[in-house]
Amino acid sequence: MKARIVGTGSYLPKKIMTNQDLEKMVDTSHEWIVTRTGIEERRIAAEDECTSDMATIAAQRAMDMAGVAAEDIDLIVMGTITGDYPWPATACIVQANLGAKKAFAYDVSAACSGFLYALSSANDYIMSGRGKRALVIGAETLSRSVDWTDRNTCVLFGDGAGAVLLEAQESESGVLSCHLHSDGNYLELLYQPGFGAKHPASVEGIGARLSYLKMQGNEVFKVAVRSLTQVSKEALTANGYTSADVTQFIPHQANLRILEATTKRLGLTKEQSFINVHKYGNTSGATIPIAIDEAYHQGLLKEGDLILSAAFGGGFTWGSTLIRW
Ligand SMILES: CC(C)(COP(=O)(O)OP(=O)(O)OC[C@H]1O[C@@H](n2cnc3c(N)ncnc32)[C@H](O)[C@@H]1OP(=O)(O)O)[C@@H](O)C(=O)NCCC(=O)NCCS
Repeated sequence: MKARIVGTGSYLPKKIMTNQDLEKMVDTSHEWIVTRTGIEERRIAAEDECTSDMATIAAQRAMDMAGVAAEDIDLIVMGTITGDYPWPATACIVQANLGAKKAFAYDVSAACSGFLYALSSANDYIMSGRGKRALVIGAETLSRSVDWTDRNTCVLFGDGAGAVLLEAQESESGVLSCHLHSDGNYLELLYQPGFGAKHPASVEGIGARLSYLKMQGNEVFKVAVRSLTQVSKEALTANGYTSADVTQFIPHQANLRILEATTKRLGLTKEQSFINVHKYGNTSGATIPIAIDEAYHQGLLKEGDLILSAAFGGGFTWGSTLIRW
C-alpha cells in the first residue's frame, strides 16, 4: 500500500506586483532582482483575503480533481508560517470552510520546508493504517510578514496556496520516502523575531520592526544549496535511484540561483527541473504544492514518473521526498 497523490490544486491571488512596482517602493531595480533571484513578479493577497481563504480554494480544487467529498477526508495538515491567527491552527479554519467534519486538522511550522514536513506527517498517518485520505496544504500570506521598506527581503516573497490529496491505495505509485532535517543553531539567519512569547507585541517592538521577517541572505544561500543537494541525494540513494532516473525535480522555489546551483550539483538537466519562481517569487510553504499542481496541468507528470522534491527554510529545516506518480 502507498499514499498516492490523487488530486492537486492551487490558488494565486489576482494582484500581481512586478519588479517595476517595487522600484517605486524601495531602492532597487528590475535588473538587480532578475539577475540575483530570477524573480519577475509575485502575487499579493487582497486586503480581505488571508491564508485560510487561499488554502480552502486550493484544497477544494484538489478534492474536485480527485472526486472526493469533504466528509471523506480523515486528516488536514498544513505547512504555514503565516496563519490567520497565532493560534488556533489555520488548518482548523480550512476544515470548517470545507465542511470536512470527520477530519482532524493541524498546522506544521517548518517555514519553507512546511509542505514537505506536512506531507511526511500525512504519509506516516496513512501508512500506519489509521486513515485513508489526507489533505496536505502549503499556504502563505507572506506579504503581511515582509518589511516593505527592506530591499534585502521584500523583493523575494509572495502569497499563494497549493494542496495535494493523498489516498491510501494498493499501488506501486505514491510517496516512496520522506527525509527531514533541522538545525536550530541557524535560527537568526532567517526568522521573525516578534511577536511570540520571546518578544510579545509592544510599542517598542513595533518601532524596532520585530514583527517582520529578517534574513541574512548570503549565509542562507550557501547552506541552502548544500542542504538541498545533500537531502536530494539522500532520497535517491534510499530508493536505489540516481539523478538520471528522475522525471521531474520539483524543488522549493526560493530563487533561481539556488535552484540552478542545486540542479547542477545533482547533475539534473533543465528539462528535468520545474521552475516557476519567476512568476510567484518565494511563497514559502506554498511553492512546492503550487509547482506540483502546475506541472501536472502542463502534462509533465504522468503515471509511473519519478518525482523528486526538496525544500529548505527557516529553522533551519530541510527535507526531500521521492514520489512515484
Ligand atoms: C538575497 C540575495 C538575492 C542577495 O544577493 P547577494 O548576491 O547575496 O547580495 P548581497 O546580500 O551580497 O548584497 C549585495 C548588495 O546588494 C544590495 N541589495 C540587496 N537587496 C537589493 C535589492 N533588492 N536591490 C538592489 N540592491 C540590493 C545590498 O544592500 C548590497 O549592497 P552593498 O554591497 O552596498 O552593501 C541572495 O543572498 C539570496 O538569494 N539568498 C538566499 C535568500 C533566500 O532564498 N532565502 C529564503 C530561503 S528559503
